[in-house]
Amino acid sequence: MNILLFGKDGQLGQEFIHEFGLKDQTTHLLNITPVGRLECDLADAEQIRTIIQKIRPELIINAAAYTAVDQAETQSELAHLINAIAPAIMAEEAQRLGSVFVHYSTDYVFDGLKKGPYLETDLCRPQSVYGATKLLGEEGVSKNCSKHLIFRTSWVFSAHGSNFLKTILKLARIKSEIKVINDQCGAPSSTSFIAQTTIKIIEILQSQNLFYGDAPKDRSSDYWGIFNLVASGSTSWHGYASYLIEKAIEQGMGTEFALNPQNILSIPSEQYPQAAKRPLNSVLSMNKLAQSYGVVSPNWESLVDAELSKIKLNNIN
Ligand SMILES: NC(=O)c1ccc[n+]([C@@H]2O[C@H](COP(=O)([O-])OP(=O)(O)OC[C@H]3O[C@@H](n4cnc5c(N)ncnc54)[C@H](OP(=O)(O)O)[C@@H]3O)[C@@H](O)[C@H]2O)c1
Repeated sequence: MNILLFGKDGQLGQEFIHEFGLKDQTTHLLNITPVGRLECDLADAEQIRTIIQKIRPELIINAAAYTAVDQAETQSELAHLINAIAPAIMAEEAQRLGSVFVHYSTDYVFDGLKKGPYLETDLCRPQSVYGATKLLGEEGVSKNCSKHLIFRTSWVFSAHGSNFLKTILKLARIKSEIKVINDQCGAPSSTSFIAQTTIKIIEILQSQNLFYGDAPKDRSSDYWGIFNLVASGSTSWHGYASYLIEKAIEQGMGTEFALNPQNILSIPSEQYPQAAKRPLNSVLSMNKLAQSYGVVSPNWESLVDAELSKIKLNNIN
């Protein structure tokens, strides 16, 4: 299969390169073109069209995005180009080729005021420029490409790249006390879970003869569209940080820490002002993905454990 991967240097992009590499060791059937900023600047529509028309992929995965949530408040034009316009163009080109287009979105499309887990059909009311541009990206993808999968995920972490997990591990080495928000809740979701599940879904589509050819009108809504893709369970940023440090100590990293779990102080969001407003409730329901594709998501703690064991403390850069 001919695959074009945008965002090769990001957290999720790196994971896809790893996972596809493992798959290809046994199948030898994958031809992947990983693309980063150097090969294609997503702010330039022509560059996007040119690379897709040159590679003619059967599958396009867009793991790229403008993810600097606070900076987006002042760089809204750039965030709009990368998060709203670029995916719409990719989707248009995918449709022209009859290809499948996989894209990622975020819990930040919601206002966070719902009392339970968000369903895919719940009203979107983004509270930030980042969330608004990601929502426009979803709309552009849905409108332009029939065989699309948009996975909304949350609190993404991995052993590579920058994320909350690695920030807390770094702080633990230099600070004896930290303050972490306790009133936003969500499900930390690892890139390995997200990439592996995406690949599993592509394989299901292939095995059901849905991958190639037109999207069948009668069954399409079960298989294509927007899906939440997150770990099960939920916690606050404070709960996440506390669990992480306890586990890291259990795994032998504690000798390097200045911080112990009791000194992770819990604070409300208003004591940690940020440029972009975050949803208080970021919990997404996994029912649709379970029904359509039989995906059972592991709990967030097990994903943290697995990723922690890949991290050597001196690699936390
Ligand atoms: N991170 C989270 O907590 C989170 C939560 C919910 C949803 N998501 C979504 O999940 C997906 C993957 O996120 P991630 O955490 O893997 O993101 P990431 O690590 O920030 O990676 C994003 C990638 O996009 C690339 N990019 C940005 N602007 C570009 C441009 N103009 N041209 C070419 N490439 C450009 C970046 O390139 P450089 O490496 O060159 O900067 C980077 O490699 C995104 O759709 C994101 O919105 C993320």
